[in-house]
Amino acid sequence: MKILVTGSAGFLAYHLLQTLLSEGHFVVGIDNMVSGLEKNTSDLLKEYPKTFRFIKADIIEMTTQNISHKKEWSKYLSLDSTASSHMKKFERIYHLACPASPPIYQNDMLHTADTCYTGSRNIFELALIHEARILIASTSEIYGDPEVHPQPEEYRGNVNTVGPRSCYDEGKRLMETLGYIYHTQKGLDIRTARIFNTYGPRMNPFDGRVLTNFISQALRGENLTVFGDGTQTRSFCYVSDLIDGLNRLMDSNIIEPINLGAHNEISIIELAQKTIQLIDKKLKIKHKRLPIDDPKMRHPHTSRAEKLLGWNAQVSLDEGLKMMIQDFKKE
Ligand SMILES: NC(=O)c1ccc[n+]([C@@H]2O[C@H](COP(=O)([O-])OP(=O)(O)OC[C@H]3O[C@@H](n4cnc5c(N)ncnc54)[C@H](O)[C@@H]3O)[C@@H](O)[C@H]2O)c1
Repeated sequence: MKILVTGSAGFLAYHLLQTLLSEGHFVVGIDNMVSGLEKNTSDLLKEYPKTFRFIKADIIEMTTQNISHKKEWSKYLSLDSTASSHMKKFERIYHLACPASPPIYQNDMLHTADTCYTGSRNIFELALIHEARILIASTSEIYGDPEVHPQPEEYRGNVNTVGPRSCYDEGKRLMETLGYIYHTQKGLDIRTARIFNTYGPRMNPFDGRVLTNFISQALRGENLTVFGDGTQTRSFCYVSDLIDGLNRLMDSNIIEPINLGAHNEISIIELAQKTIQLIDKKLKIKHKRLPIDDPKMRHPHTSRAEKLLGWNAQVSLDEGLKMMIQDFKKE
């Protein structure tokens, strides 16, 4: 199959691309490198020189008109009169472009919101032209600071429209709405994954997400920073489980959004203690002020994924943490 992946230099995309390319698909990746790692792309280009192509670009700029005017874009993305064979069409698009780490997405809030709206709209238009099925990476953040626990897909969320997380939380909500509009009014064949915290090798060690912070600090011999008193909870899904869930969803006929996440809810202070136990028992925990609108708890309701996709996360937090620590030690 010919497949397009946006956000291809990112953490999740690296693992997704490994799966797709090892299955023999031809994949084109797009990334503007706002939070991706150069190494992810260069390693994939080395490993799959015949079947992987990379376009460094911002999806916000990728209107149909711009694509047709730029040679290096149209070569892989256009379907003009010279595109003779059916193989030139993308059959599937995984739309992952958007920084997932708060410090990075808050760095340029307008750009984050624009990525979710204008960028997604451009990619949806491309999907229509190619008649491709598209899977969008939504997030548990659309539930905001939830009052319902665990969070089922029917829960409509508790999101602040005017806060430092709004560009991402509301951006992703709007991306879902846009997907609904394109599906109902233009017939876009869409799948929506609501991804809960996912972790593993190849995360950007400097992206400021909780586990990358803990592991990077512990490996440098620094005390671990916990925001607030650390009683806030999260559930952590190992990346191989998540990719399996995304692919099952892509292969399914399910149009409604689906939660994908693990059932190992843990408080952030316990997670810090676990990291200390695994890396260096001498380290201590230091506290900093809790950021505004930080959700107090997070745990996915996954009965929809279990029933409709036969999916459940398999890798335990201890196993996954050890694999991630090994990877971070190599860097
Ligand atoms: N990892 C998680 O825990 C998690 C949880 C929920 C949702 N998600 C979603 O999954 C997707 C991938 O997450 P990730 O963890 O791999 O994040 P990531 O930051 O590692 O990857 C995102 C990639 O998108 C690229 N990008 C951002 N804006 C872009 C733009 N305008 N044009 C082109 N490329 C752009 C970045 O450079 C980066 O390589 C994101 O959409 C994220 O919101 C991830």
